[in-house]
Order: sequence, then structure tokens, then C-alpha cells
Amino acid sequence: MKVSIIGCGTMGCGIAQAISQKGHSVIFLSHSEESIKGGLERLKGNLYRAIEKGKLTQQEKEKILKNIRISWNYNDTKDSDLVIEAVSEDVNLKKQVFSQIDKINKNGILATNTSSIPISEIATATSKPERIIGMHFFNPVPVMKLVELVRGKKTSQQTVEFAKKFVEGLGKTSVEVKDYPGFVSNRILMLFINESINLLKEGVATKEGIDTIAKLGFNHPMGPLELADYIGLDVCLDILNSVFNATKDPKFKPSSLLEAKVKKNELGRKTGKGFYQY
Ligand code: CAA
Repeated sequence: MKVSIIGCGTMGCGIAQAISQKGHSVIFLSHSEESIKGGLERLKGNLYRAIEKGKLTQQEKEKILKNIRISWNYNDTKDSDLVIEAVSEDVNLKKQVFSQIDKINKNGILATNTSSIPISEIATATSKPERIIGMHFFNPVPVMKLVELVRGKKTSQQTVEFAKKFVEGLGKTSVEVKDYPGFVSNRILMLFINESINLLKEGVATKEGIDTIAKLGFNHPMGPLELADYIGLDVCLDILNSVFNATKDPKFKPSSLLEAKVKKNELGRKTGKGFYQY
């Protein structure tokens, strides 16, 4: 299958890797030559680290890279069976990308990896909202087994069936959910993370203590504060704000400690400091 992936941040890189590893032909795109070349370097770095950790073989690495072609010309998405958008979590930017792709690719399924923006809203930028679907991957994509499939108000059954089959072919499990603010995954996860941050702020336990409770008490692979650093504190704040603004439910009001960290640019692993130092 021919798959185009637009956006070369953490999620775009992970999605491109997971899909090319299964033998699909991937066009990996961004808005400029410089941006996509940087994205390819990031993807290669992930592959080298995975080899060092014994998670990937040299042959697998070669197969992945052989199936990926980079591009900064959106016209190259023309013949793709599936286009997956993974650009920044900005509704206007996503709508702009979808409006462009809708004019170039006439027959493919168009998916967004958004973690909180309504699919039905993104679909308004296109002429065929029935072919738009949310395909929400989880980080690190090559490892995580879930894809949350979000059915917009006008998404067709045919589009949903296509996405389910595709996800299954990646060796992952899909769960179909309705187009509600935060969908299901982030309604659950962000409450858990936000409450953990409030517990830290209130001094109920140390950060290590809170994370150990989740790891040993609930068998989670990472504690909620470690996970927030892993996801990015700016991303957590954006998702909480987006769900809070859509639902007006005070339980989603971001913790003032989270807001303060983002203001100080302590965004987690990516800036070297969040709740922990890296
Ligand atoms: N190809 C490439 N990289 C691979 C790989 C493969 N086939 N297999 C493993 N790796 C990489 C992983 O990406 C990871 O890379 P980094 O060190 O750069 O993070 C590394 O090898 C370690 O992988 P392991 O399989 O050894 O896993 P681990 O035992 O060290 O656990 C973990 C790491 C998988 C991240 C685990 O701690 C975990 O599951 N944590 C929770 C992750 C989670 O909850 N993710 C969801 C976040 S929410 C989200 O993404 C959605 C949203 O909308 C916010």
C-alpha cells in the first residue's frame, strides 16, 4: 500500500517507521526540504538507538529506510491510498493541510493523528468528509499496540473498515470511539496526570513517591510524572486546555504547577527538564 505521512516530529517519525517496517511504501513529507531532512535524521537516530538496545536488527533498519522516500512537495501524495497527517496540534494548521491534500489526493483515505482536536471540525476543510478519520497513535509508535480510531460525524463505514484493517496489518489493535473532546484515551490519561501534578503541588508525596505508587501499585510501566515528561508538558497542557474549553468541566482545569512549568520552558525530556532532569 502507498502511504503518505505529513509531519516529521516524534509522532510522524514513529508512524513512518512502524508503517514502512510492515513493507508499505511510505512518502514522508514536511513543509520544507530542511524540515523533512531533519525529520529523516531524527528517524535514523531512533533506528540506531533501537539497534543499540537490541530492539531492531540491521536488516530491519535497511528495510525501513528502503521503503521511505522523503518529499516536501504535497503533490506527491496524489496516488496514496492513505494519507496520515501528524503536524503540530493546531486546528488551523491541520485544516490548511487537509484542504490542500483534499485537492491533490482525490481517492485516498485521509487520517489525522490529532490527540484532541475534533475530527468533524478538521473534516470541514475538505470536500469529502466521509473519507476523514482520526487515527490516534501512541508514543513510542513502534512499541505501543493501540490505535484509537475516531469516527467523525460524517466518516463513512467504509473509511472505518479500511482503517481497522490497516491498523490490524500493522500488528496493532484499534478501538473505535466517538468524536468527543479528548476522545477516550486523553480524557482518562490527562485527568490521571493532572491529578498527580496537583498531588505533587499539594505536597502529599514526592515526585518519586507518586511515580512509584503508579509503577508498583498499578503495574504501570512509567509513573504519571515521568510519563508527562515523556509526552511533553506543553502537549499535556494543550490537551487539558482543549478538553476544558470544550467541556467547561472544572475537573480538566490544568494544574497551576503544570502551567508554571510550561511558562518556564520546562517541558520534560525534550528540553532536558520537566518534573525530572535529563
Ligand atoms: N523500533 C524502534 N524503536 C524501538 C523499537 C523498535 N522496534 N522497539 C523499542 N524501541 C525503542 C523505544 O521507542 C524506546 O525508545 P526511547 O529510549 O528513545 O524512548 C526504547 O527502544 C525502549 O524500548 P523498550 O521496548 O526497551 O521499552 P522499555 O522497557 O524501556 O519501556 C516504554 C519504554 C515503552 C516507553 C515504556 O516505559 C512504556 O510503555 N511507557 C508508557 C508509554 C505510554 O504510556 N505512552 C503513551 C503516551 S500518550 C500518547 O502517546 C498519546 C497522547 O495523545 C498524549
